[in-house]
Parts: sequence; structure tokens; C-alpha cells
Amino acid sequence: MRVNNQPQTTLWCESATQTTFIIDQTLLPHQLDIIPLKTLDDFCHSISAMQVRGAPLIGITAAFGLAAAIAVNPQSTAIAQAANTLIATRPTAINLRWAVEKIQASVANVAEAQRADVALQHATRLRQHDIATCEAIGEHGYQLIAEQHRRNPNKTLNILTHCNAGWLATIDWGTALAPIYKAQQAGIPLHVWVDETRPRNQGAKLTAWELGQQGVPHTIIADNTGGHLMQHGLVDLCIVGSDRTTAAGDVCNKIGTYLKALSANDNNVPFYVALPASTIDWTITDGVKDIPIEEREAEEITHMNGVDANGQLHEVLISAPGSAAANYGFDVTPARLVTGLITEHGVYSANQTHLAELQNRVVNAQ
Ligand code: MRU
Repeated sequence: MRVNNQPQTTLWCESATQTTFIIDQTLLPHQLDIIPLKTLDDFCHSISAMQVRGAPLIGITAAFGLAAAIAVNPQSTAIAQAANTLIATRPTAINLRWAVEKIQASVANVAEAQRADVALQHATRLRQHDIATCEAIGEHGYQLIAEQHRRNPNKTLNILTHCNAGWLATIDWGTALAPIYKAQQAGIPLHVWVDETRPRNQGAKLTAWELGQQGVPHTIIADNTGGHLMQHGLVDLCIVGSDRTTAAGDVCNKIGTYLKALSANDNNVPFYVALPASTIDWTITDGVKDIPIEEREAEEITHMNGVDANGQLHEVLISAPGSAAANYGFDVTPARLVTGLITEHGVYSANQTHLAELQNRVVNAQ
């Protein structure tokens, strides 16, 4: 995707200096800072402090993090320890474990002296794979948008999204936003309702910024607005991302997603979830029971940051001093509320039978 009309990705590695570079997303949209990651601590901090965030990007960051750790100590026990440290940084997004396990597997039968090179090559392949995967999700999701457009060619399509599942959450393209970028390229008139996504405002800050950079018309709405818009026929389609999807099609995504799915269901608005197959946890079927929900610091609820008229960043207290705040990061949308899962392999129904077909396809492709 583009920033100020220049091509930009979220993460890349300079192999000569063994340095990975990321965009510090905690400073967007006010500042575009690129920061280097070298040590395992740097990588862990970047994930837990949400300098990088979004399930696919967390996974790729962890892959390069493990490669960096292996360059320092290629012994199996040290690799296992580094892997566990990375996996513990954020508990909900399954791509983190997926990517770390891929790197571990890539070096398992390799001599210690070669492990660093092999791990770095594998992390680089995962990064490339993420770009291709997200573009394929974009193509499949585009077909759904094009179908709606064919039915009503003179209408601007209104698509609602929650959190940030755009290119900032991946290496490029994004998941939920990839179909939107493909539709924009095809000339389909569309407008995106962007949920602000409290408490960290990934919608108002990140999604709005990246859509603006690509010239996609959009409007930021307070989180509780979606139901009202749907009642008034102002949403044609919802597309969101996923941090973990069960083998039965329950979807865990940023807190507030479930309420959007309920509203969509009540108003006959199609509710699609866009995700790479790596986001599916094939070991579980009950999302509410089996997915660990990250709880973050109360300060993310009680405080907000932004810039003043002079462009200076500040953090301010917005709540009653001394009140407790509970900060659940994610919620689970039951499969029955999901119209379809847009994956890199096509659009699947959110049920165990259809997803088993996808699992076979993924396993056969390995
Ligand atoms: O807490 P975050 O910002 O990492 O949460 C991100 C989301 O919930 C995204 O919707 C999800 O990771 C899908 S990203 C393609």
C-alpha cells in the first residue's frame, strides 16, 4: 500500500545487519516513525506494547524475533525458551503461535551452525506468504462486493468495519480491507464506516489513516453507532478481521465485534469475516469457552492520547479519578452470526463441515 504516495510495508528485514524494521503504530496517525528491532526483548516489547498489532503482523514479527534469538543462541533449549517468551506476549491472536511453531519446525532437523540462516530464510518466506495470502483474500472478498454492486450499480456501497484489519495489521493489503482496496481498484463506488474501536481507537487512528492514504472515502463513527446505521439501511455489508477462529467458525476479534454481528443479524446485513487460514485454531470448537481473552491495563480505558493544536502529543485522563476500569481486548462472535469466512482459499461457511474441507486443503498444501 502507499503512504504519501510512496510504497510502504509494515515490516521488513535488512539481512546484512540482521535488523528488522517496523512502523511504530502507537504513534500513528500523528507520526510515521520507523524503528529497528534487534534483540528478542525488542521484538517482545514491540508486540506487547502494540507497536505492531493485528494477528498476521504479530505472527510475522514473532517469526523474525525467533530468528533473531536463534542467531544469538541456536541450541534447542534456548530456542524453546525464546519461543515461549514470544508466545506469551499476547494471548489471543493464534497467528503468533502458528508463526513461532513454523520457525521452530524449520530448524528442528538442522545443524546448530545453520539454524540462524534457515530461520531467517523461513521468516522471510512467511512474510512473502502473508502478502500473497492477503491479496488472495482481497480477490475473494472483492467478488462479494462486486456481486452487491451488480445488483445495484448506481449505488455507493456502504461497508462497516471494526478495529484495524487493513495493511497495517498485516505486511500488505490487510484482511478485511483487502476486498475494499480491490473494489476501489475496480472502480466500484464505496464508502467505509469506520468504528472508532475503543479503547485504543485502532479504527479512528489506524483504519481511518490508511483508508485516507489510499483515497478510500470513509467516515469515523463512535462504536455504538453501527446498530442505528443498520436500522436505517445505511450499511450494505460488514467486513471484519479475526484474531482466532475455531474449527466450528466462531470468530474472536476486537472487543465490540460481537455487538456489530448481533445488529447485522437483526437487520439482515451480511456479516463477513476475512482471515488467513493461519488464524484458524483447529484444536478448538467453542470460541466462548476455549479462546483466552487478553485483558490489558486499565489506563487504556481511563486515558486517551492525541495531539494538541501545535501537533504535540499528550495523554489525558478522561474518566472519574480513582474508578476501576476493565479492559477486555476481544470478544467472540458465534458462528451462527457469521455470513461467511473470506479466506485466501475462497469463501467458506462458518460451520465445522465446510471448515473441515478447508482444513484438508490447508494440510494437503503443506
Ligand atoms: O489488538 P489488536 O489491534 O492487535 O487487534 C486487532 C484486531 O482485532 C484485528 O481485527 C485482527 O487482528 C485481524 S487483523 C488482520
